[in-house]
Amino acid sequence: MRRMKNFGPFSPRIHGILHGADYNPDQWLDRPDILEQDIQLMHQSGMHVMSIGIFSWAKLEPAEGQYDFLWLDMILDRLYAEGISVILATPSAALPAWMSQAYPEVLRMDENRVRHLHGGRQNHCFTSPVYREKVRTIDTLLAQRYGRHPAVIAWHVSNEFEGYGCHCPLCQEAFRSFLKARYHDDLEALNHAWWTSFWSHTYRDWSEIESPSPIGEHEMHGLTLDWHRFVSAQTLDFLREECRALRAVALHLPLTTNFHDFVQLERGLDYWKLAEELDVISWDDYPYWHADKHSDAEEAARRAFIHDMNRSFKQGKPFLLMESSPSATNWQPVAKLRRPGMHALASIQAVAHGADTVQYFQWRKSLGGSEKFHGAVVDHNCDDPVHVADTRVFREVTALGRDLDRLLDIVGTSVAPEVAIIYDWENAWILADTQGPRQEGLDYFDTCVRHYKAFWDRGVAVGVINADQDLSRYKLVIAPMLYMVRPGFGAKIEAYVQAGGHFVTTYWSGIADETDLCFTTGRPGPLRRVLGIWSEEIDVLYDSDIHHVGGYEARLFCDLIHTESAETVLTYDDDFYAGRPALTCNRYGAGEAWYIAFRSYDTFLSDFYDARIRAYGIEQALDVDLPEGVTATIRADEEHCFCFLQNFTDRKQSLRLKAPMQDLLTGKQVQTLEMDPYSYHILS
Ligand code: GAL
Repeated sequence: MRRMKNFGPFSPRIHGILHGADYNPDQWLDRPDILEQDIQLMHQSGMHVMSIGIFSWAKLEPAEGQYDFLWLDMILDRLYAEGISVILATPSAALPAWMSQAYPEVLRMDENRVRHLHGGRQNHCFTSPVYREKVRTIDTLLAQRYGRHPAVIAWHVSNEFEGYGCHCPLCQEAFRSFLKARYHDDLEALNHAWWTSFWSHTYRDWSEIESPSPIGEHEMHGLTLDWHRFVSAQTLDFLREECRALRAVALHLPLTTNFHDFVQLERGLDYWKLAEELDVISWDDYPYWHADKHSDAEEAARRAFIHDMNRSFKQGKPFLLMESSPSATNWQPVAKLRRPGMHALASIQAVAHGADTVQYFQWRKSLGGSEKFHGAVVDHNCDDPVHVADTRVFREVTALGRDLDRLLDIVGTSVAPEVAIIYDWENAWILADTQGPRQEGLDYFDTCVRHYKAFWDRGVAVGVINADQDLSRYKLVIAPMLYMVRPGFGAKIEAYVQAGGHFVTTYWSGIADETDLCFTTGRPGPLRRVLGIWSEEIDVLYDSDIHHVGGYEARLFCDLIHTESAETVLTYDDDFYAGRPALTCNRYGAGEAWYIAFRSYDTFLSDFYDARIRAYGIEQALDVDLPEGVTATIRADEEHCFCFLQNFTDRKQSLRLKAPMQDLLTGKQVQTLEMDPYSYHILS
């Protein structure tokens, strides 16, 4: 089995997996009894860490230049005295009202060029020099005061940077400067890259360029792509300024920002870029369990995919599960209570994929505000001391904490996948924007997850990477719907396959370059030689249409290809293209490259990847057939190896191991495992 070196704990001051939550004592400063109750309940539930100060700016700086840190001094001292660590946040995600009133430029302008009023959060302009100055000042003061506080183990920079750009005049200027740098001051190069001669959109001066807008230009995809890139770059620049301010004073503290789980909405920031700035990755996981449209196992695979992406951002370095709900959310359309066991199972899933913490949003429910009904470890009943800890959620959290405390040696261990799936943000942006033969149902994220699930079902570890990453460590690389092929990627794949690698891609790949200009050398562009095919045209189907390929269903996309050097493995059964290739394999150097020309929702991907796993000798976590809805993952280093078996069904499941293993939680040797609904075993 492949093993990685132990990455060590993210902070030298921690031992074991941390269990904790977002804690907002600033909402309760008039209730010292509640603060006392918090400490007592934190002990009772076995919490080791609290994230503090995320939305506290109005308490820290109640009026411009007037600071109040006494309450925070008191909280940090008290938590330290009680042995609870703190991840201290910078408050830049929610600005105080006085600032919006005094400096309207700090407020964001939307794509309709409407300046927003004060309110909500994450609503500031990332470019505004005033906002940056205010943030730098408060961050510096926090670093000076708390950088050496013994309770503080890490920085939590801002909160959930998102992909909403600001379209104010300052941002327009910054966008133009970004473009000048990107196109080396050559407006003609930009005009060509964006194909502006279409509809007479040619720019004669940089000042004519405006960010995309529904009331202006929004269908020129070179522009929309560069706007997404700019928003990522500007957000990164803002994040960097915060990091610089903190590191200038407290370089020794690791620094993170909590990533959103909104990747599936395909609008977000390119987190690969932000990841480079961080010492440790953290993310907020809010699954849709017990839904009506998908099974828990499908949702588990989707979550596992995002966990694996977060682990891959730093080449396998463990991440922090910064937020999760211990019960329901208040924003999902229907947020059913988690069935017994599900909370612990979902938390262990994060650990199984590389998390070194399990943290919640939130420790205690607020009495007011928009999130007062969001799940928390402690409910509203603070004045009912008999029942405040006597809840199902509190008991389940406490029991999970006991299991986590047994996983001391797991810290810093990781996963060493032999398979990688490429989920590429730039590709996601362009697939969402571009206007092709099917406007609906491209579902890039879900498509990648469907490929991923074939591995999840078999307990095969996967890295989730973007197109710029090194591929040499993988036996199999899969790039579903890689519409955009950036310069160098075609040559990289050729070298990878030539050297013995295995590559799989699909319909709607190799269509356009990084500015959305279509390839002129025949589709799939730079992938044509390695795949040994060319695509003449692509047919799309209605949702209700079903075509067939060798006994499998073909849905939505049927690429009509010709083989060049590739061999045809399956052909279409229907329509005017019956008999033409639908699945091909090209032997290229020491490796092979597969082209899946059609989409399918049945067992095709499962069968296809099962055969690849066997053919390429790809390791499974356990050498057994896993029951449906059960998966297995391994975290290991040179010394330790932990195998997590997880049952994401509401049924009992049983399986027999090839040889006895030790159950870490009970200390017993086991060979036949009877798994309860929503349960896990950790084997060693
Ligand atoms: C996160 C956010 C938290 C809280 C939580 C509720 O996205 O960072 O502050 O709002 O959602 O689910």
